[in-house]
Amino acid sequence: MKILVVGNGGREHALLWKLRRDAPEAELFVTHANGGMHGLATSVPLASGEIQAIAGWAEQNAIDLTIVGPEAPLAEGIVDHFSTHGLPVFGPTKAAAQIEASKAFAKTLMQRHGIPTAAFQVFDDRAAAKAYVREMGGPLVVKASGLAAGKGVMVCDDTAQALAAVAEIMEHAAFGVAGAQVVIEERMTGEELSVFALTDGENVLPMLPAQDHKRVGEGETGPNTGGMGAYAPVALATPELMARVEAEILRPTIAAMAAEGHTFRGLLYAGLMLTPDGPKVVEFNARFGDPETQVVLPLLRSSLLVPMLAIARGESIAGTTLEWAPGAAATTVLASGGYPGDYSTGVAIDLPAEVERMEDVVIFHAGTQRAEDGALATSGGRVLAVTALAPTVAQAAERSRAAAERITYEGRHFRRDIGWREIARAGNHA
Ligand code: AMP
Ligand code: GLY
Repeated sequence: MKILVVGNGGREHALLWKLRRDAPEAELFVTHANGGMHGLATSVPLASGEIQAIAGWAEQNAIDLTIVGPEAPLAEGIVDHFSTHGLPVFGPTKAAAQIEASKAFAKTLMQRHGIPTAAFQVFDDRAAAKAYVREMGGPLVVKASGLAAGKGVMVCDDTAQALAAVAEIMEHAAFGVAGAQVVIEERMTGEELSVFALTDGENVLPMLPAQDHKRVGEGETGPNTGGMGAYAPVALATPELMARVEAEILRPTIAAMAAEGHTFRGLLYAGLMLTPDGPKVVEFNARFGDPETQVVLPLLRSSLLVPMLAIARGESIAGTTLEWAPGAAATTVLASGGYPGDYSTGVAIDLPAEVERMEDVVIFHAGTQRAEDGALATSGGRVLAVTALAPTVAQAAERSRAAAERITYEGRHFRRDIGWREIARAGNHA
């Protein structure tokens, strides 16, 4: 079997790692392999945005399954291209990917179908947006509707901040065309939970819930990032809560997408907030989360490939179950100096071989590149995700941190408090 993964970050490295375990004999390919993927997959010299060229390459090379990692090619219609050529591909169509690419689409879908989410209004006129902010008063969240690499959301404490956020997005175009429309919503309170669900468009197969750390600083301080770490499982996500999430959110959303003519096949990622009134949707993504994938997949004992292949072929996953390893996983993201602001690339990384050999530690590469002589250097803001497995989250976090400390490069920074909420809950400081 020949499998192509589109994308070259930490999430895609984790997907390749899992696919290799599921199918040791498969031939794996990846668009522009990063510095950790050589040896695992053959690098295809195409960028993830070259959707027509990727579809052409997959056809020429008789690829049996293509898995799309990032949201941008999904939003541009890569899956529609593949389907036109009759090529099996895992991911939603362009129309279905709107659930992530347009917050206005996602919010109005939830409203029409009674799916719990924060109260909101959509605006494309800034005067009307400002009038609404003044009318509502108090804490609000102002969001650019389009794709903004996880940065288009401004959580505001008061009216003045919310007015400034509207001005920044709609007048100063802080997020470009993504901010032509804004969604203004009620500010919810509670812990967040990331829930992935595999879906064939009708059946949903929820995966192990995870929590990520979006802020750059310890104790959830400083600006938002793509994600500085994650862990799973989460004790708050009891079987009762997960049954509720499935019944009130996942199934109704997949049914709503089908009913409106945008059948969603692939991976639905529900970003939830566990509010005093129950779980509510913060946002949907049309793909696996990064870095949550780097903790969820290492705990998956059963095959990921089997349900992915069924979904890509348009078959049903009814009756499929997933089996999880006992214990926990935590991942620490090592970032470039300056990230999430400006940072330099091409910085030499010292990744000692004995760290790579540490038991129950897996190092997923994100923004790395390898020179011809094998030297490893940075190539992005998030550089590595160091995952560790252990019986408890506290122990996994400790092991991940210990491995992270031993990997060095100029400007390296990472959070040393991954999983702190869970550790405080369990009271089991390792
Ligand atoms: P998003 O990109 O939509 O996931 O938003 C980024 C982050 O902003 C979320 O992870 C939340 O921490 C926060 N956020 C978004 N919407 C809300 C809301 N309605 N209430 C409170 N916090 C929110
Ligand atoms: N970890 C957040 C995301 O993947 O969007």
